Amino acid sequence: MQKFSRAARAAGKTIALVPTMGNLHAGHLSLIKIAKNKCDLVVVSVFVNPAQFGPGEDYKKYPRTLPADFKLLRASGVDIVFCPSARQMYSESFQTSVNIRCLSPRLCGIYRPGHFAGVATVVLKLFNIVNPHVAVFGEKDYQQQLVIKKMVEDLNYDIKILTGKTIREEGGLALSSRNRYLNREEKKAAATIFQTLQLGARLIKRGERRPGVVLQALRSFLRKQSRLKVQYLEILNADDLTVITKLCTRVLIALAVFVGKTRLIDNIVLDIRGG
Ligand code: PAJ
Repeated sequence: MQKFSRAARAAGKTIALVPTMGNLHAGHLSLIKIAKNKCDLVVVSVFVNPAQFGPGEDYKKYPRTLPADFKLLRASGVDIVFCPSARQMYSESFQTSVNIRCLSPRLCGIYRPGHFAGVATVVLKLFNIVNPHVAVFGEKDYQQQLVIKKMVEDLNYDIKILTGKTIREEGGLALSSRNRYLNREEKKAAATIFQTLQLGARLIKRGERRPGVVLQALRSFLRKQSRLKVQYLEILNADDLTVITKLCTRVLIALAVFVGKTRLIDNIVLDIRGG
């Protein structure tokens, strides 16, 4: 992979990387489209990264669908699929970890200790292996793309990070590889997640500026759907995930819920500067 990138760069080609864990859906494909529009060559990595799963999480049962992924990747005109094994990525003596201190102990990081260090470390390895000019991430994993941007800034990586909008099903549920764990009833219930975010957006657009009031309304809305168990629901400054007492910046509403045993996350960003 490194040799390929070196040769491509020497020939004056630009390279975009889209990191994934496979089981590809239209969300991933939308990032590939952004990558294709930006660079000459598109590399997609498919790697279910053990370092970002906690004990008791779904590393073992995470859907691995490489043949179907290859079909989709071929049809979408990707140039290289990089799919290393866990052993190739992590030797037995592997010791290094990247920790983004200010962003990790928030939102998902509170409930998934070590998760963002696992993500940042593997993404840094992928950057060093693929050596892309551009890398594309989804806003669906809002905290993740912030963590990556911070890492690139702090460690002076010469890589441009682009983000793609969240792609949703018709009912609003954000596409996710984990949606396939849901049965029909759970899937119906999961539609409430986006409805909650939309309710938050409506309240704020109508002029509500007290995060506590918005949160209370959203919590009572969520309580009506008995199949959902909220892990967190927060309203934060979208730029740095700090707590805000008045809504007057770029605002992030983010939540994680369990639908049965499946944990789903979603978010929405509202820019109310000057409004
Ligand atoms: P994965 O969950 O496979 O997601 C790969 C990329 O697709 C991420 O940037 C994610 O934000 C984006 N994505 C997922 N669902 C999306 C949707 N509905 N709309 C738009 N984009 C979406 O995120 C990971 O893998 C891993 O943590 C990884 C970055 C590959 C590191 O292991």
